[in-house]
Amino acid sequence: MIYSFYHITDVHYYSKRNFKCDWRTFPQPNTQICILRSEEAFKKALEIVTEDKDTSTVIITGDLTDHGESYSHEEVRDILQEFTDNGGNPFVYTDNHDYPYFSVHGFDENGKKFPMEHLPEDVVKEMYYPFARGKAFDTFDDGTTYIAEILPGLYHIAMGYDAKDTKSLLYPYFSDELMDWVKMHVEKAQQKGATVICSTHRPVVAPSPAYEVVGKGHSFIDGDKRIKQLADMGIRLFFSGHSHAQCLKEITSDKGNKIYSVQTSSIAAFPPKMRKITIDTEKGTAYIRTIDIELPDLGMSFSEYAKKGFLGIIEKIPYNMEHDVVAFANTEGGISLPKDLILKHPKIVMFLGRKLNGLTYSKVAKFSKKYHDLTEADYESVKDKKFVNLVLDLIANLYRGNAHYSPETVEYKITMGSFRKIEKLLSVLHIDIKKTLNGYTLAEFIEPLLYNSGPDDDNTTVKLG
Ligand SMILES: [Fe+2]
Ligand SMILES: [Fe+2]
Repeated sequence: MIYSFYHITDVHYYSKRNFKCDWRTFPQPNTQICILRSEEAFKKALEIVTEDKDTSTVIITGDLTDHGESYSHEEVRDILQEFTDNGGNPFVYTDNHDYPYFSVHGFDENGKKFPMEHLPEDVVKEMYYPFARGKAFDTFDDGTTYIAEILPGLYHIAMGYDAKDTKSLLYPYFSDELMDWVKMHVEKAQQKGATVICSTHRPVVAPSPAYEVVGKGHSFIDGDKRIKQLADMGIRLFFSGHSHAQCLKEITSDKGNKIYSVQTSSIAAFPPKMRKITIDTEKGTAYIRTIDIELPDLGMSFSEYAKKGFLGIIEKIPYNMEHDVVAFANTEGGISLPKDLILKHPKIVMFLGRKLNGLTYSKVAKFSKKYHDLTEADYESVKDKKFVNLVLDLIANLYRGNAHYSPETVEYKITMGSFRKIEKLLSVLHIDIKKTLNGYTLAEFIEPLLYNSGPDDDNTTVKLG
């Protein structure tokens, strides 16, 4: 059998009706989400599915709206209904951005934010019933978890989760009862010869060590254990969103079973992407392909446009470290910095900011010269480049996927060399950086941001075994 379907996530739809001013004249806000273009991005993504002759099926794994006020939810529901009326087959669920966990705002005639009301969580869940548990053949607990036959012989288990912090759904985990329920359904499906895929909104495994640290509490507690249990049940593909990172990871259980964690970026943030998956059960493969969302009239690609908005936050970080520590500590956009620690040590932060902004490639290469094999001639052409721009690019790599500074590049060698030297200096001072970095060394922390040594994050064919 060949099964094709799409994965879209983190729609972050923001209704144009929330603007009392003309949104067209509104400057692109420096946020991770392109709220001015989220409607177009969602419609474009569904148009791609509608025009595909292979399939009309799509799973949409949460954060349907940006902040969950009623205009946005109503419009997303209407768009899904129209898509369905045109033959589309969506399976969706809601998550943290769709519920009352964030303050909700519109923009008044002068472009100033004003507070708006949030739809209650139970009302939100009910709105998407026809595209979620209304199409399921069984549900677990309150119905957030459901199993549906998304194509004849292909089952999708949308897995809800519990969270230690119930007010923000942080520190998520799968209960033993849920895992038992999933196992029961996987076994039943296997007896029928069906294929099962699973998904949940938040990353079961963090896309990178850096994400684990800066996005503390966003990935699953015991995620590694849970995904390996799913692998041992026979699940081979697990989809998620939330991190807005484009990432594909192969995980092998202790019993040798492989599972692929497929995390897809938001369609309305940098990089704006969706995926098409084609499972061939006879060959035992899944072809996972990435499609970039393109929108007209931006004067640049949507990806560049989204990066501009996103880096608007990030680019300020080195400047703020040196000149405005409070603003640095309050950096927004899905980045959780250790605010208290930063505010406690403003002079250290300012010193680090000043040093960071003054760094060139040649200074960094000289600093770490015992930790790499480069000569001055090797980096002559890039010696005056600002190192901080490379740091910004590494931050973009946290989301972009396929980090591209291979081990032969100057960038890789001077960055890894420097971090190894810093690690050494810290150990002399008896500072255990691993405690701050979730058990990772500095080198382990930084390397995945330089270079992707795993499967291609965008396009790859995986063996399902
Ligand atoms: Fe999101
Ligand atoms: Fe989310």
